[in-house]
Amino acid sequence: MNYLMAKKEPRERIITGLDIGTTKVCAVIGELGYGSKVDIIGIGSSPSRGVRRGVVVNIPRTVEAIRQAIEAAEGMAKTKAHSVYVSVAGAHISGATNYVSIDLPGQNQEVRHSDIQSLIDAAGDITVSQNREILHVIPREYTVDDQDGIHEPIGIFGARLGLKAFLITGSSPPIQNVIKSVRQANIKTEDLVLQQLASAEAVLQADERELGTVLIDIGGGATDLAIYTKNHIRYIAVVPIGGEHFTNDLSIGLHTSIPDAEEIKRRFGCAMSTLLLENEKIEVPGIGGKQSQQVPRKFLCNILEPRAQELFELVDEEIGKSGYRKLLPGGAVITGGGSLLAGMSEIAGEKLEIPVRCGFPDQPGELGEMLANPIYSTSIGLLMYGAKRKAASSENRPTSKFDYRSISSKFRDWFFNT
Ligand SMILES: Nc1ncnc2c1ncn2[C@@H]1O[C@H](COP(=O)(O)OP(=O)(O)OP(=O)(O)O)[C@@H](O)[C@H]1O
Ligand SMILES: [Mg+2]
Repeated sequence: MNYLMAKKEPRERIITGLDIGTTKVCAVIGELGYGSKVDIIGIGSSPSRGVRRGVVVNIPRTVEAIRQAIEAAEGMAKTKAHSVYVSVAGAHISGATNYVSIDLPGQNQEVRHSDIQSLIDAAGDITVSQNREILHVIPREYTVDDQDGIHEPIGIFGARLGLKAFLITGSSPPIQNVIKSVRQANIKTEDLVLQQLASAEAVLQADERELGTVLIDIGGGATDLAIYTKNHIRYIAVVPIGGEHFTNDLSIGLHTSIPDAEEIKRRFGCAMSTLLLENEKIEVPGIGGKQSQQVPRKFLCNILEPRAQELFELVDEEIGKSGYRKLLPGGAVITGGGSLLAGMSEIAGEKLEIPVRCGFPDQPGELGEMLANPIYSTSIGLLMYGAKRKAASSENRPTSKFDYRSISSKFRDWFFNT
C-alpha cells in the first residue's frame, strides 16, 4: 500500500455513482484502490417512476427510488454512501465550443493558476445566462499570445492568455430538481455529470476517442449522443426516442399490455427484418381474458423496424449537424438498455453507414461481471469518473488534468477529457 493510500480515511475511499434514469435509479458503490482503480462493492437498483426523458418530473417518487437504490447498494457494500456523483440528462442540456481570452497582468509574465481562474470566470460570464448553469467546462487548448495548441500553460511567459473550451450547460430548474431529490434522500451531491459523458467513460476506448467515434446511449425515454475526436468531446445531442417507444409500439400493434409487450420485445423483438428466419412464430398473451395468439416473428419486426429506422435517421441528422460526419473512422458505439434489442447494431450500421459495436461496461471482479450490461454503462461511468477525480485530488498532483476543478468552485467540473 502506498503512503497516500495509507493516509486516506476509509470514508474518503468510498465513491458512489447514482444514475437517475427514466426506467431505473441505480446506485453503484466502489472503493478506491491504487491510482484511480476502483473495486465495485455494492449495487442497488430501483424502478424509476418520477423521471421522464431523463428529467425529474416527480420529486417524492424520485426521492423514494433514490433511497431504495442507495439502501440496497449500502447493504451489499456494508458501508455508507455519504456523497454521490449523479447523472444529469435531458433536452435542456446543450454544448458549444467557446473561446475567451484575458490580458495577463504585466507585460510579460508567467501564466499562474490564478490567471486560469480568471479565464474560467470569463468563460462562464459570457456564456451563461441567469437561468442556465454550467455542468462541465472541458478545456481543449490554450493560447498564449499568438501561440495556439498549448495544453499546459502554467509557467509560460506571455501578455495574453486564451482558452478554447467545450462548455456544457443546462437549464437551472431541472438541474435543481435533481440536486433537491438527492438532498431529500439525505445524500450529498458530490458532482453532476452529463449522462453520455459518464457512459463514454465506461464504454469508449482510448483509441476510439482519438480516432473519432459517436457514442449513442439508447435509454428508456431518450437517446443521448456524444461525438469524440482527437481525445475531446466535440458535440452532444439528445434524440427523443428510447426503448419505451419500441415497447409502446408493440403494445399497440399486438393489442397486449405494456409489461407483456416489454417481455416480448426483449425475448423475441428484432430491429431488422432481414436478420430473421422465415416462418418463425411466437405466442402473444391476450389482455383482459382474451385468448393468446400466435404471430410470426416478422410481424414484431414490422412494428419495431420503422421505429429503429426513425431513431437512427434522427441520430444521423445530428451527426450531420455536428459537422463531424467525415471524421468518425472509429464508427459508433451503442449502449444503454435500448442497444440490447436484437438487430440494433446492424440497423444502426446500415443507417449511419459506419461500423457499429455494442458498448458493455467492463470492470473486474464478481460485481463487475454482474454489471457487464449496457443498462449499467452510466452508473459504472459515474464511478470511474468519481474515482479519477478523487485519485487526482488525493494525490494532490499540481499538473493533474483534474486539478483545475479546485480552481473555481463556481464550476461543477473542469477536466481534460482524455
Ligand atoms: N434485453 C433487452 N432487449 C431490448 N430492450 C431492452 C433489453 N433490456 C432493456 N431494454 C430496454 O432498455 C430501456 C432501458 O434502458 P436504460 O436502463 O439504459 O434506460 P434509463 O437509463 O433508465 O433511461 P434514460 O437513459 O432514457 O433516462 C428500456 O426501454 C428497456 O425496454
Ligand atoms: Mg440512462
